[in-house]
Amino acid sequence: VSLVTHRFDEMPPAAAYALLTQVIQPRPIAFVSTLSLSGVQNLAPFSFFMAGGSNPPSICFSPVLSGGGLEKDTLRNIRDTGEFVVNTVDRTMAEGMNATSVALGPHESEWHLSGFTPEPSELVRPPRVAESLAQMECRLFEIVSHGEGHTAARYVIGEVLRLHVRPEGFGTIARMGGPDYIDSATGEHFSIARP
Ligand SMILES: Cc1cc2nc3c(=O)[nH]c(=O)nc-3n(C[C@H](O)[C@H](O)[C@H](O)COP(=O)(O)O)c2cc1C
Repeated sequence: VSLVTHRFDEMPPAAAYALLTQVIQPRPIAFVSTLSLSGVQNLAPFSFFMAGGSNPPSICFSPVLSGGGLEKDTLRNIRDTGEFVVNTVDRTMAEGMNATSVALGPHESEWHLSGFTPEPSELVRPPRVAESLAQMECRLFEIVSHGEGHTAARYVIGEVLRLHVRPEGFGTIARMGGPDYIDSATGEHFSIARP
């Protein structure tokens, strides 16, 4: 089998982004709830997401810098408040999750676009997504910055303080390349265009 070798040293970030997201898949989705300092509730999905260890329970996701090298609301809120909730997404939530991925200003909430229900957390101020089959209340451990400008990584490392999970079975959808997803519960492949 002959492989094509890509060099990243002379590649625009958008091309590198497309390559990485085509080969690192399926990616589970962290549906992240945060609060701004002024109390605006923010909700957004992130598929650059992983568990990293369990002593203590540790997770990581990356809200990359957006166009103009600006921080996304989720990153700013977590730096400002030190708290967030990672909610899982199953097939019934796919469209509502996708609707929250629009770029709204920091003073606008995505919750009403999703149709989902905020439910108070036990230890942190951002609410959980009641419809999610699993919800993790997290405290910020560290933000690691790698690179500058559009699509540069900002690794948010968090400690999971509480896990709320439905006992009666569990499934999540995961991101493939572009608009494509797979449902881990059924194996269904489906696509949803970004809003
Ligand atoms: C399924 C899915 C996965 C996404 N994964 C990421 C990601 O890993 N990192 C990222 O920066 N943006 C990701 N996005 C885009 C963000 O959700 C989008 O930029 C959102 O507006 C950020 O919201 P915020 O500015 O309120 O934090 C993803 C979008 C979708 C639909």
